[in-house]
Amino acid sequence: MAEIIDTRSEPDRAIETACAVLSAGEPVAIPTETVYGLAADATNAEAISRIYEMKGRPRFNPLICHVSDMAMAEEHVAFDAVSRQLAEAFWPGPLTLILPQRPESSVHALASAGLDTLGLRMPEGFSRRVIARFGRPLAAPSANTSGRISPTSAAHVQADLGSKLKLILDAGPAEIGLESTIIKVEGERLRLLRPGGLDAAEIEALTGLAVERPEAGGANIEAPGMLASHYAPGAAVRLNATDVRAGEALIRFGGRPLVGESEAAMVLDLSPSGNLREAAANLFDYMKKADASGADTIAFGPIPNEGLGEAIIDRLQRAAAPRG
Ligand code: TXA
Ligand code: MG
Repeated sequence: MAEIIDTRSEPDRAIETACAVLSAGEPVAIPTETVYGLAADATNAEAISRIYEMKGRPRFNPLICHVSDMAMAEEHVAFDAVSRQLAEAFWPGPLTLILPQRPESSVHALASAGLDTLGLRMPEGFSRRVIARFGRPLAAPSANTSGRISPTSAAHVQADLGSKLKLILDAGPAEIGLESTIIKVEGERLRLLRPGGLDAAEIEALTGLAVERPEAGGANIEAPGMLASHYAPGAAVRLNATDVRAGEALIRFGGRPLVGESEAAMVLDLSPSGNLREAAANLFDYMKKADASGADTIAFGPIPNEGLGEAIIDRLQRAAAPRG
């Protein structure tokens, strides 16, 4: 099993140990405000290849690179005016920007899967301190086996990847609980490549520009991580349930009971008070709990399609997609 260091009680040892493991070319699981990341030195091809190996990714997808400050970001990418405005408003935070990589950037092509752009973000919290001390960007997808639900706690990471990992930094439950929102600015167009922890409405309010959603059903080749069956629990998933069938696990929202609840194997409410931020933070943990109940189907009650509801529904649709 991996060593777990609590960043709240031992911050200095956490940073020093993490930097030593990263310098040796090994991945470390780090806490970010969105989900726990499987981080490696983005300038070291062997270190990056270990991420793919540990996750069991079938092929090389571009990874998000994480920076500690704007100076580090500017070393690796070129900002257009709108992307800069977004970075200044929302970093550190749950926003990833797709930006042209500078020719002199030392981020290895394996991190960007050979694209001429980088997905870049500045995370909030302890991981940012680790990056600042390490001095180079960290490539980090979510710290889970490919296709499984993203981890929002150190215990989730330990259960999934603990036997392969040396070190997990534990900063408690992830505050946001959903991966970052991915935006690509093309001139005056703002393209949403992945809905996530930053509400797209906040981006529209800041820039005065409409955020363009990907075409419904269209395979989004620019963000391969967006392809169908993803975030999959072991159980089948049934969406927009208005009743519960005997033996199903139910995950509902807003404190409204559903018909048949007394027959359910388990009933969880993402936010009894109807708060979508709280629901996002609980989503992946509750999916894992429902999955662990042994029920062969997880039924989800309706979730409002507004604010962070957009990203929650996106993840649920992927969880419900036919497994391939
Ligand atoms: O919240 C998050 O973003 C988490 C935490 C750990 O920071 N990270 C995360 O990373 O979700 P990852 O590597 O799993 O996200 C990859 C997504 C994929 O959909 C990928 O295609 C897209 O980002 N992506 C990365 N670089 C890209 C690029 N240059 N162009 C287009 N899409 C890119
Ligand atoms: Mg992931």
